[in-house]
Amino acid sequence: MRQVLNLEFAQREHIPTTIYTSSDQACARVADAICELITARKAAGKPAVLGLATGSTPVRLYRELIRRHREEGLSFANVIIFNLDEYYGLIPEHPQSYRRFMQEQLFNLVDLKPENCHLPDGDVPREDVLASCHAYEEAITEAGGIDIQILGIGRTGHIGFNEPGSTPDSRTRLITLDSLTRRDAARDFLGEKNVPRHAITMGVATILNARKIFLLAWGEAKAEVIAQAVEGQQTEAIPASFLQKHPDCVFCIDEAAASHLTRVRHPWLVGMVEWSPAMIRKAVLWLSRKTGKPLLKLIEEDYSENGMADLLTEKGSAYELNIEMFNTAQHTITGWPGGKPNADDSHRPERAKPFPKRSLILSPEPLDDIYCMGGTLHRLVNQNNDVTVAYLTSGNLAVPDSEARRVIELMLELGEKRESADDLKFARLLDRKLREKGDFGDDPAEIRQLKGLIRRTESRSSARLLDTDSKRLRFLDLPFYENGRYRSFQPDESDVERLIELLREIRPHQIFATGFGNDPLSVPGLCFEILRSALAASQSEPWVNDCHIWLYRGPGMEWETHEIDMAVPLSPDEFENKIQGIYQHQTQRNQSPNLGKDGDGNTWNLASKFNRATASAYDALGLAEYEAIEAFKRLDINR
Ligand code: PGA
Repeated sequence: MRQVLNLEFAQREHIPTTIYTSSDQACARVADAICELITARKAAGKPAVLGLATGSTPVRLYRELIRRHREEGLSFANVIIFNLDEYYGLIPEHPQSYRRFMQEQLFNLVDLKPENCHLPDGDVPREDVLASCHAYEEAITEAGGIDIQILGIGRTGHIGFNEPGSTPDSRTRLITLDSLTRRDAARDFLGEKNVPRHAITMGVATILNARKIFLLAWGEAKAEVIAQAVEGQQTEAIPASFLQKHPDCVFCIDEAAASHLTRVRHPWLVGMVEWSPAMIRKAVLWLSRKTGKPLLKLIEEDYSENGMADLLTEKGSAYELNIEMFNTAQHTITGWPGGKPNADDSHRPERAKPFPKRSLILSPEPLDDIYCMGGTLHRLVNQNNDVTVAYLTSGNLAVPDSEARRVIELMLELGEKRESADDLKFARLLDRKLREKGDFGDDPAEIRQLKGLIRRTESRSSARLLDTDSKRLRFLDLPFYENGRYRSFQPDESDVERLIELLREIRPHQIFATGFGNDPLSVPGLCFEILRSALAASQSEPWVNDCHIWLYRGPGMEWETHEIDMAVPLSPDEFENKIQGIYQHQTQRNQSPNLGKDGDGNTWNLASKFNRATASAYDALGLAEYEAIEAFKRLDINR
């Protein structure tokens, strides 16, 4: 945990912000504060009033509170809850309603009194919305006001559902959801079109009235908005920035969510830094971007005007530093991601020997592999490495019912045509199961299996385009995913064991993985933790010491140039082939989270945007100009 100690960055940061090495550490601190409040209020014979939030972010906090209830006797008998918001137009039983979320994640698992658990009413007729919102505000006041408010933050900068445009004096009301917010919720609703357009939310003023506020944020996806809220001006464009007004508000965030704060991103601008090789690279590549100059054209003034005069003193001259950084960046580029046999490898990202390599590609769900590293995968295969692609989860939750229905109809018709009683019986069972669950039910096991198999077929046809033998594809179907739902996943030893078995069998020379810096409750984030545990448990195995771990970024994100240790350029043909591979994942065309849309409104072709952006960034440094680049960062296993 790093405290705000440095005066210079404290001046830039308008909200006290604590960076934790893990979200669990942050949650433990917030849970401590909640426990203290509950205990103090109980001793005084009074209720404790909590304002709570939904979404992925607070789930681990709720798990910690539940643990303390079960193991340490923490009672919620004197606690009153007011939740921030609720989708408008969803009945409380709807699987995505926030009422149901809170019941499943907290209310039903501790001794809260049902009459003390309040959420805005999302099911109220339109003409009664105003009165219902007033009543919500009054109920908060009558309870004595909120003692501790827990917040997440949306990528739009929303707190609660106070989207950009919300004013600091806003109160509980009906709002229209921002398109980015709806896109972020698309995965939960299996498609953006199913996400409600409106919600009822406490206002910014309602939130600011709380006596104490903790805002939590995890993962790189929140980094930019966190920096804007903490360091920017107070503005309706980022409603979370109004938290700067509050006398007792703390942001508790993990390292990934802190990564855009000046003290982390450009520490040389806010004080003295220790010039490690990684820091020098970061600073010089940033300087090239900032000045719009290729590396070899940076001059002394550029350095001294941007907080890096001491670096020049240490390094001698801009000329030497420029050349050193140019060479370092140049050496990240390779067309041989598995190492180039019989070549001098002293300046290559991957070693020449052994060759061929046993390369293991870990894809949290089908599609991540091709989306993020399809070109590299193709090269590894064509350069005769021994490639295995392991899909850690089946990805069945991301298949809409309409896709399952198509396959079931095919099975029914085939059964009828072939007059096969057994085939027909099974197809009818699936048909009935799908109908019975209706719009709100969870998929029964048979439907989840079918959906998982549909994704396997997509992975196989995608792999075919990359010349990957389908025998080299492994489907691990990790139990945490098969037995869980989004936001309720709880990996355990059985998941780690399954991965350990695979690692033992393959003894890889290189592993390509993702999930580093993701929301820790997301599928890639959980898969990355499972990999960490599997590697830790394999430390004594001889192959581990000789294994390079290459991290690729998840869909919708890419490493920045200073973070890249291996850059694999793609030719226009290779790039087109990759895009065709992505298109094989037909069920995902409306699902993929965080991808945004390209100019044609296409949600699943943004790989082109990111791979092209990396190529342009390399070009701008003064390196060769490529069509597209896939980028990797080498993981230091001991970190
Ligand atoms: P998340 O949502 O926790 O699912 O990221 C946060 C928010 O939108 O407030």
